[in-house]
Amino acid sequence: MSNVPVTELNDGTRIPQLGFGVFQIEPDGTAAAVQTALEIGYRHIDTAEMYGNEKGVGQGIRDAGLDRADVYITSKLNNGFHEPDDARRAFEKTLSALESDYVDLFLIHWPLPTLYGGDFVSTWNVLEEFAKEGRARSIGVSNFQPAHLDRLAAESATVPAVNQIEVHPYFANEEVREYGQRHGIATEAWSPIAQGKVLDDPVIERIADAAGRSPAQVVLRWHIQRGDIVFPKSVSPDRIRSNFALFDFELDNSDLDAISALDQGESGRTGPNPDKFDYIPK
Ligand SMILES: NC(=O)c1ccc[n+]([C@@H]2O[C@H](COP(=O)([O-])OP(=O)(O)OC[C@H]3O[C@@H](n4cnc5c(N)ncnc54)[C@H](OP(=O)(O)O)[C@@H]3O)[C@@H](O)[C@H]2O)c1
Repeated sequence: MSNVPVTELNDGTRIPQLGFGVFQIEPDGTAAAVQTALEIGYRHIDTAEMYGNEKGVGQGIRDAGLDRADVYITSKLNNGFHEPDDARRAFEKTLSALESDYVDLFLIHWPLPTLYGGDFVSTWNVLEEFAKEGRARSIGVSNFQPAHLDRLAAESATVPAVNQIEVHPYFANEEVREYGQRHGIATEAWSPIAQGKVLDDPVIERIADAAGRSPAQVVLRWHIQRGDIVFPKSVSPDRIRSNFALFDFELDNSDLDAISALDQGESGRTGPNPDKFDYIPK
């Protein structure tokens, strides 16, 4: 049914390269949005404990009449739960909200290098337990900078399967992507359309007009051709559908280069800087 490419991770598992993100979807509206996405053909959902909508993700899968095994689910450890015992309890809660006995991928949401005495390695060791138990099929990190990844490499036995980081045309985040490429860590690009901020860029509009595609499709296609994993969020059924229609056209190298040239470096970042971010949700 689906022509979404699959990316093989460093632990031998496989993840659909295109999924559906549910950040900022209201808990009450999440089951319906997820059901819509699954009916369109998405088979990969990206949620997090922080989003407060894991329950809706599980419900949406059941409402779509799909088996748990048909859908790839990622969730993430919230910032308040980095202490090992808290992480274990939080993971139980994630599984019970999803009504599943495993997640396909579980991530440390933020490294929080200024909190917990800078110790994200103990937290990572707990994710290694979840992987060993088979309750997280794969484990990875999110918002980790090269220095944080170097530390995991030096002090733990497992290379993260993915690093989920901010990437879009205004913030290409090349240094972190290249680190991933060198070390076999797949890059997942969050806010792939910069929450809409890149869509009225004249370069993107020009390429979209020439291709007969929407600006969002062109930007998402740029990510796909660069090899990153993406999961655009939308609550609009029309946008959920069009964000999925990426596999019947191609951008040529000059288009790819023109979009890549929009990179503004650090000033293009829209989210928090992972070296400083220390927010603990109430
Ligand atoms: N690990 C992290 O720290 C982190 C941080 C941020 C995000 N994420 C993950 O990445 C996912 C995607 O990122 P995101 O939600 O921040 O932003 P995004 O996917 O780049 O953009 C979503 C925004 O763009 C709009 N939109 C979606 N499709 C559109 C289209 N075709 N045309 C015009 N506007 C469109 C949506 O509005 P409508 O809903 O009204 O369509 C929404 O406001 C999240 O849902 C989450 O799973 C992870």
